[in-house]
This record gives sequence, C-alpha cells and structure tokens, in this order.
Amino acid sequence: MATTVNAVALDESPIPEHVAATGKQTVDPYNVSGEVGEDGVMKAIDYSKLVDEFGTKRIDKALLERFEKVTGKKPHRFLRRGIVFSHRDFELILDRYERGEPFFLYTGRGPSSDSVHVGHTIPFEFTKWLQDTFDLVIMLTDDEKYLFSEKRTVEEVQGYCSSNAKDIIAIGFDPAKTFIFSDFDYVGGAFYRNIVRLSKHITLNQARAIFGFNDSSNIGKIHFGSIQGATSWASSFPHIFGTDEKKSNAIPALIPCAIDQDPYFRMTRDVSARLHFAKPSLIHAKFLDALQGPGTKMSASIDESAIFMKDTPNQIKNKINKYAFSGGKVSVEEHREKGGDTTVDVSFQYLRFFLEDDAELERIRLEYESGKLLTGELKAICIQELQKYVAAFQERRAQVSDETVDLFMERRALRWVGNPQAPRVVPVVEAAAEATGDGKLTKNQLKKLEKQKQIEAKKAQKAKEKEGGQAAGEAAAE
Ligand code: TRP
Repeated sequence: MATTVNAVALDESPIPEHVAATGKQTVDPYNVSGEVGEDGVMKAIDYSKLVDEFGTKRIDKALLERFEKVTGKKPHRFLRRGIVFSHRDFELILDRYERGEPFFLYTGRGPSSDSVHVGHTIPFEFTKWLQDTFDLVIMLTDDEKYLFSEKRTVEEVQGYCSSNAKDIIAIGFDPAKTFIFSDFDYVGGAFYRNIVRLSKHITLNQARAIFGFNDSSNIGKIHFGSIQGATSWASSFPHIFGTDEKKSNAIPALIPCAIDQDPYFRMTRDVSARLHFAKPSLIHAKFLDALQGPGTKMSASIDESAIFMKDTPNQIKNKINKYAFSGGKVSVEEHREKGGDTTVDVSFQYLRFFLEDDAELERIRLEYESGKLLTGELKAICIQELQKYVAAFQERRAQVSDETVDLFMERRALRWVGNPQAPRVVPVVEAAAEATGDGKLTKNQLKKLEKQKQIEAKKAQKAKEKEGGQAAGEAAAE
C-alpha cells in the first residue's frame, strides 16, 4: 500500500533511496511524501514540522490583520484557512506597500505535461488574487522539466509551454501587468548575467546539501537552481524594471509558491544578501491532497489521482465518488453515531480549498462530524463545487488563443499601479554597496546618494511648478 501511495505522491522522480529506507517525510522540489508509519500507511504531511525545519514563519492572526489594514483587502480564503500558511519576510513587503515602494510577484511552473490539475491552479489562483495590487512575472521552467526527467525531450517540454501558458492565463491574469517567459527562450542578456552571478556563489557541496544531489546527478540539475533563483531579481527583467541595475536590484520579489519550492529560494536569499540585492520574500502554500488521501499529492501523470482542468462534469463526479478518500464510518449506523473525520476526508479538504463561504463550510464541518451529513452527501457538495470551478476555468480557457499567449510572452514594459494610498517612491539605491563588498556605503557613495536625493527633490519641485503653470494655461507659462 505504501508504495502505491508513494507513486501517486511523486510527479516523476523515482522514490529517493533515503525515503524508501527511512520512511521519513520528504518535501523538496523533486519529492513530496508524508512519513510512512510502521503499518506501512502514509501519514499526512506535517506542515508544522516543515516550518521548524525550514526556519520559516507561520502566518498568524496578527500578520493577517496587518495585511487587511495595509491593503484594505479581506484575506483570501487560503489565508483565512491556513492553506497559505507560512512565509519569509512577508511583513517587509507590507512595509514597502505601505510606503509606496515597488516590488513584484514571481511564480512559476514546470511544464511537465499538457494536463493541468486543480492542485496546480492553487498557487496561481492565489497569485492572481494578489496581482490586483502588484506586477507579475511568471516563469516556465521547460529546462527544469527536461533535466529532471529521464524520458522527456527538449521538443516535448517546449511543446507543453504554450498550452501551460494558456492554462495559466485562463486563471485570469491581467496582460498589462504580467510577463510570462520560457527559460529556453529568455535565458541570455541581463537574465543570464544574474544566473551566472548566482551560480558563482553556490558550491557543489551546498547544492548537495540543499537538494540532495549525488555523484550521479547530471550537472544541469546542479546548476538549475541558479536559473530559478535569478528570476527573483528584478534586474533580470530590464524591459520591466529598467536598465539601471542599481535601482532594479533594490526591488524585491514576493514569491507565492508551494512549500516544496522553498529550498531554491533559501539559497537565493543567501546569495542576494551577499550581492546586496534585495532578498525575495516568500509566501508558502500547502498541497492539495491526491484523491487517495492525506500525505499524497496530485500527479499529472496519474489520472485517478487528480481532478484535471480538462475533466468533464461527469468525470469529476465519477472520480470523486469512486476515489475520494472518505473520513466517514463503514456503516451508516456507525457514522450517524460517531460522525466522520473531516481532517482526513478528501471531499471536505477540497471544500476548504474551493468553497468561498466560511459559514457554509463550518456548517458542513459540524454536520459531518456529528454524523448528520453522510459521506455520499458530502461528496455531492464537493462534486458540485469542483464542477463549478472547473467549468468557469474551461470557459475562460476557450477564449485564450495563440495570439493571447504571444501578448503575455512579449518583452515589454508593464503597468505598475502600486499603492493608491501612498505616493510612488523611486527605489532606494541599496545595491550600490555591491562594489564595496561589505554592505556598507562608502563616504563617497553616501555623498552621491545625498546629492541624488537633492536632485530628485529639485526635479520634483520643478515638475510641480510646471504642472501649476500648465494649469494656468500654456501661453502664460511661456
Ligand atoms: N520549479 C517549479 C516547478 O517545478 C516551477 C517554478 C519556477 C516555480 N519558479 C517558481 C514555482 C517560483 C513557484 C515559484 O513547477
């Protein structure tokens, strides 16, 4: 049993020996599986342990309250329900937002197949929601999916890029604020310079310790982290953030991602600090369980493990009814008496992800746990919600053409809105310190900064006067 569940949990990589041998929980970019108990059954992923092991911070009530205060937005249901549960330096992003300073969103997807499932849409749904406020860069790591698979060809992964881009666009991103790129197409120029900067600061020993590589790992895998990492730096995108690296290197990314991606960015944050580039902030999501239950992750290559965004209403119904792991009791009598376990019930877990109404969700929980609601009834509610979610997606997906993809993937400037409550601030030139190597500004640099500030102030003053002049009529201004 443990092995079958494991196969579902993994997207493509074989089960690493240490997991098979120790049965320990493993969460890294290439493997996600819960601990295998003595009975051979996989347990749910212990996210609390991950926060401690990775050294991230829990998203708590105080942070959510601050979020709402600063942005004026009610936190997304993923935040309210602890699905987006952990972060690194998210509060610094809120500080910047409050001060009107720029930052950008960065997320990505490895195009491993044409079939996107509901689990894949979770970080994108969340990112789309955040985008109402921020600029966005989306990376398609076709190179990664080639390097990390025995079978796939370059042509194959490149082929998935366009259909995956369409799926991502169908989530509802704003073309004026979104740049999507494929690594195979975009590596070069400013981006490649940053990739090499990052790679120079990572030793083979570190890559092994962070990602678990060994002597047989191909060297492309070992290097790949510098590509995923360098996307966190705004100076990799001169068409969006300008060619003055002193300015762009001071603009941080906020990276919404599933928690398994954290190792890439832990590494990137370390190197950012050494280069005096802005460190990326992170906000981490949990995984959507596979239909088979806790501890597993939906897999694009195993049809029975997931609800796919291409599935028909009937397929959704059949999959939930047939495969969705139930927390209900064996007989109706026992269920009525003892109630179901919502913490392991897949249908209930899916409702936590997709049902917007908090009060309704709470009602369902209480009724299922008290035995009033039966498994079949709970499944029916879940089926309905998923059918709605998938149908709405399919409607938007049908509108996305090849031209739409070209539009999103064109190198161009994006519209930056920022915080409407705060005046727009020119990025601070923190990265100027790179030359000194120790992070402190030299006297000369401080002088320069001071001078620059004065010039900016004068400029602003002039612009104000000019505006006033124009308002008074152009003839009068001349
Ligand atoms: N490595 C991710 C994957 O396999 C893709 C990815 C690249 C990503 N950059 C990212 C995911 C940033 C989240 C955030 O799918």
